[in-house]
Amino acid sequence: MALLETKSISIQFGGLWAVKNVDFQIDLGQTFGLIGPNGSGKTTFLNIISGIYSATNGRVFLEGEDITDLKPYQIFKKGISRTYQSSRLCWEMSVADNLLVGTYTSQDYGLADTIFHPKKVNNRLAELVENSLDLLSYFNPCLIEKRYELAKNIPHIDRRRIEITRALLSKPKVLLLDEPTAGLNDDETMTMMDDIQKIKDKVGNIAIIIIEHDMKVMEKVPQRVIVFNAGEKIAEGTFQEIINDPNVIKAYIGGEAK
Ligand SMILES: Nc1ncnc2c1ncn2[C@@H]1O[C@H](COP(=O)(O)OP(=O)(O)OP(=O)(O)O)[C@@H](O)[C@H]1O
Ligand SMILES: [Mg+2]
Repeated sequence: MALLETKSISIQFGGLWAVKNVDFQIDLGQTFGLIGPNGSGKTTFLNIISGIYSATNGRVFLEGEDITDLKPYQIFKKGISRTYQSSRLCWEMSVADNLLVGTYTSQDYGLADTIFHPKKVNNRLAELVENSLDLLSYFNPCLIEKRYELAKNIPHIDRRRIEITRALLSKPKVLLLDEPTAGLNDDETMTMMDDIQKIKDKVGNIAIIIIEHDMKVMEKVPQRVIVFNAGEKIAEGTFQEIINDPNVIKAYIGGEAK
């Protein structure tokens, strides 16, 4: 039984099949890359897995359990966490407060506690912030010093790091990264690749699906690469296998390879 599996997953928007009959499996410890031309259905595929979109056909299984019809927060609680193509930080909140959002599944107190036991709640929050910053510092120790800065005032790469850290704070089994290097320059992209490697070393037992356009990232980071075109999975294999696949070459350059 695979950790995460999709069976014939499809979604239709009006007359368009944005994702069509995609079979996919990933296990703990694996990192898969997902590539494809613009509009080929990559983000939509992650949106189905994370419950943001309801599949028109097909099923999604996590550890054998059918999670297709669950709500996003239920899927999150079951262990699938994600980042977004465009930044989803709260700009007017501090780095620490943005991270706290990711500790939602560990917030083991209720409304009554906040009223009758505020000290206990504050201590627990402080503990959660410390744990969050500990993970954040793993990416870059300097980020600790920025804990009280507003998200809008920190560099783009640090925002990306915070988003990934926030996604990891729920201790997910599956981490979905939608273009984590979008908007980064070449040097920052290299740094981000190292960061993703660090995640794997630090967190260990996790499955990662990473959408990326940058072939340097695809060559270096994932073990296997999946290629989408017009909503369909047209290839899957190692980086070397997929870049030599005639279907992939045709999808990217629109003709035969010379
Ligand atoms: N909510 C929606 N309603 C209608 N069409 C949608 C919706 N979401 C996605 N689509 C369409 O589905 C197709 C796939 O979009 P998607 O965002 O998944 O592509 P992508 O591979 O992530 O592209 P990019 O590389 O540009 O991020 C596109 O044609 C898009 O316009
Ligand atoms: Mg996308």
